[in-house]
Amino acid sequence: MSEVLHKEVDEARQGEAYAPFLDDPNKFSKKFYIESYGCAMNFADSEVVASILNEEGYGATRDQDEAHLVLINTCSIREKAEQTIRNRLQHFKRLKEKDPGMLVAIMGCMAERLKAKLLEEEKLVDIVVGPDAYRSLPNLIAETEGGQKSVNVLLSRDETYSDIAPIRIDSNGISAFVSIMRGCNNMCTFCVVPFTRGRERSRDTESIIKECQQLVDEGYKEVTLLGQNVDSYYYTNKDGHNVTFAELLEKVALLSPQLRVRFSTSHPKDITDDVLYTMAKYNNICKCIHLPMQSGSTRLLAQMNRTYTREWFMHKVTRVREILPDCGITTDVIAGFCSETEEDHQDSLSLMAFSRFDMAYMYAYSERPGTLAARRFTDDVPEDVKNRRLTEIINQQMIIQNEANVHEIGKVYEVLIEGDSKRSADDWCGRNSQSKILVFPKSVAGLKKGDYVNVKVTKTTSATLIGEIV
Ligand code: SAM
Ligand code: SF4
Ligand code: F3S
Repeated sequence: MSEVLHKEVDEARQGEAYAPFLDDPNKFSKKFYIESYGCAMNFADSEVVASILNEEGYGATRDQDEAHLVLINTCSIREKAEQTIRNRLQHFKRLKEKDPGMLVAIMGCMAERLKAKLLEEEKLVDIVVGPDAYRSLPNLIAETEGGQKSVNVLLSRDETYSDIAPIRIDSNGISAFVSIMRGCNNMCTFCVVPFTRGRERSRDTESIIKECQQLVDEGYKEVTLLGQNVDSYYYTNKDGHNVTFAELLEKVALLSPQLRVRFSTSHPKDITDDVLYTMAKYNNICKCIHLPMQSGSTRLLAQMNRTYTREWFMHKVTRVREILPDCGITTDVIAGFCSETEEDHQDSLSLMAFSRFDMAYMYAYSERPGTLAARRFTDDVPEDVKNRRLTEIINQQMIIQNEANVHEIGKVYEVLIEGDSKRSADDWCGRNSQSKILVFPKSVAGLKKGDYVNVKVTKTTSATLIGEIV
């Protein structure tokens, strides 16, 4: 059973290449081509980089062959993610052989993790740039002019790119990511992110509000506020007031009742009742929380340094259901972490059965060099056992989702139309507040992308609700 690629950005978008300036191909003499992998933070960063390159006279292209600069925004979260990128680098190696003048830059988490090693291992890379060093890209490009290689992987304590207006490369013009913080201080033992993204820091509240307001003015209907741990958002304003995540959420929700507000990711130890009550107060804050469980065993949770217990997690799920009865809850689970026994595995299955998640991203544990787990523990669950446990976890989750789907039939949801359905241009596709995808015929004339409609569910498939406009 293969693992699932990471969340907020679905599998279909992994490696997506985009071109924000295609409408004006003559405006820029130089072209860049960018591919993004990993989580939504990386996709949001690519939009910041597009803006920086735009200022330098680079326009984007979807055509690799006409690119002067190729950028690959990389992910290190699991071995498989890095392997995908290594394969991609081989592809660009062949392209560079045809066009030696083309620059190849590797950016993001793998650039940070492997640093200058990438120049030695992957002889084709010209530039290595870490997540906090994107402002230096113009200098790094200039440094390569004499044929040298250039590297900047310095992590920062305060870089949030707050003053850079990202170039929206989301093609639907309806939904946008807005980064509200960077880095992570949590040090979950299995996780490479604290090493690739550095210390946690929150972005200036005013700049977040300004960016969201601009999106509203441009006709966007949905923002997703991004951070590795959004509940620890904390920013001291000029007047000395400390803004919490609940307050930030409220400020964004108040910009327009037409704007849907989502956020990701929450940490079970940090999500507060204040956040839940703020969600309850505003209809336009979507009723969906991504609450990564990781394991159902208190012993393993301690070994993972998640700082909550099985009982704490149960309490959080119960609290969400009490305050927000119609809220969707999604999760991440890891199978086969160091020393996981059959009993620990059963604990994960039973906590998932208790929580009845609407959706889950399920992974086999992949040891990452340099993490606390790699240094302290042995990756001792055999691959076949990890995969068998992962399969059991996935199968149980599918049963839970299918059971939940039965109860969806007959329900009416407000859906934001995001575009044509992938299968047929005769159908619309959109999501409800709980983030479930709905597909329904274009039975009412005059509707367009970005409109809200009420849809009654008539049928379900495992991942999609089928319905009709009412
Ligand atoms: N900050 C979020 C959190 O606290 O859950 C998301 C972190 S990570 C980008 C997304 C998910 O990848 C994690 O929740 C975890 O389930 C999974 N993950 C992280 N490191 C992993 C590893 N070494 N092996 C397998 N899965 C891993
Ligand atoms: Fe990784 Fe844990 Fe931070 Fe999430 S909270 S990014 S899992 S260290
Ligand atoms: Fe995201 Fe992957 Fe980095 S999940 S933070 S791009 S390691």
